[in-house]
Amino acid sequence: MPEADTQGEKNFFLDTPAATDAFFLKGSSGYDWGMQNRLARIFRPETGRTVMLAIDHGYFQGPTTGLERVDVSIPPLAPHADALMLTRGSLRTSIPPTHRGAVVVRASGGPSILKDLSHERIALDMDDAVRMNVSAVAVQVFVGGEHETDSVQNMTRLVDAGYRAGIPVLGVTAVGKELTRDARYLGLATRICAELGAQIVKTYYVSEGFERVTAGCPVPVVMAGGKKLPELEALTMAYRAVAEGAAGVDMGRNIFQSDSPLAMIQAVASVVHGGATPGDAHDLYRELRESALAPAG
Ligand code: R5P
Repeated sequence: MPEADTQGEKNFFLDTPAATDAFFLKGSSGYDWGMQNRLARIFRPETGRTVMLAIDHGYFQGPTTGLERVDVSIPPLAPHADALMLTRGSLRTSIPPTHRGAVVVRASGGPSILKDLSHERIALDMDDAVRMNVSAVAVQVFVGGEHETDSVQNMTRLVDAGYRAGIPVLGVTAVGKELTRDARYLGLATRICAELGAQIVKTYYVSEGFERVTAGCPVPVVMAGGKKLPELEALTMAYRAVAEGAAGVDMGRNIFQSDSPLAMIQAVASVVHGGATPGDAHDLYRELRESALAPAG
C-alpha cells in the first residue's frame, strides 16, 4: 500500500487555463504527439525553421567531394545543424551515437548515376528507422520523370508506415535534366508531395515565384542547396528562400564543399535563425574562416 499523499496543500493553478496553443509548424497541428515531437527536433520551435545538413549524396554517386570521409568531415559540423540528412550506412558507420541533433534518414534509392535516377525503390524499413531513433525519413519524388508513379508510391507507402510509427516523411522533389526548374513545376511537385501525405517537402529555390511555391504547399518547405555556388550567392539564396516562405534549408555541397564548412554552416544558421542579411552572414563566414586559419596561440 503506497503512503498517503499528505504533503502540504495541493495546487491546481485554478487561475491558469490549460494550454490550447496550436503546434508551431504550418499544417502540422493534427499530428500525434510523437510526430510533432520529432518535427520539433528538426524545426526549432523558437524560429519555426531548420538548418538541415544534407550528406546523403553517396547513395547514388559514391564518395562525393567533401564526403570522402564522413567520419572525419561531418562530426565537427553536426552540432551546428538542426538535423543531419544522410543514409543509414553513414549514420551507423560515421556518426557517433552521442550526436544529439535530429537525424533524417534517406529511405529511397536503387539506381546510381550510371542509370535512370528516377527508378528508385523504398530502401529502408520503418522498423529500422525506429531502431535508429530518427526524426524523419526522406524519399525522392520524380514528378514528370520516367518512373513518376513508382516514386510517388514509394512516398505514400512510407507515409503510411510513418504514421504507424509516428515518423514524418520528407518528400524531396527531384528535378531531372529534362524538367524545367521553374515555379510552375516546383509548385506542382511540392503540392503533390504534401497532398499525398509528406509532412515536410524539400525543393529548389527559383528567383521568380518561389513565394507562390511555398504558399501553395500546406506543409513546411525546406530549400535544397544544389550545386556549389560562391558563399555570398548561397547565403543570398538561403536568405531569399526563408524571406519567401521556406521553413529553412537542407543544404549539402554549399556547406561541405565550402572553403570552410564550419564557418559556412554557422553563416547559414545566422541567416535562417538569426535573420542576418546575406552581407552580414558573409562577413561572419569570413571572420570564422579566418579565425579557423589563424595559427594557435
Ligand atoms: C537530393 O537529391 C539529395 O537529397 C541530395 O543528395 C542532397 O539533398 C543534395 O544536397 P545539395 O544539392 O545541397 O548538395
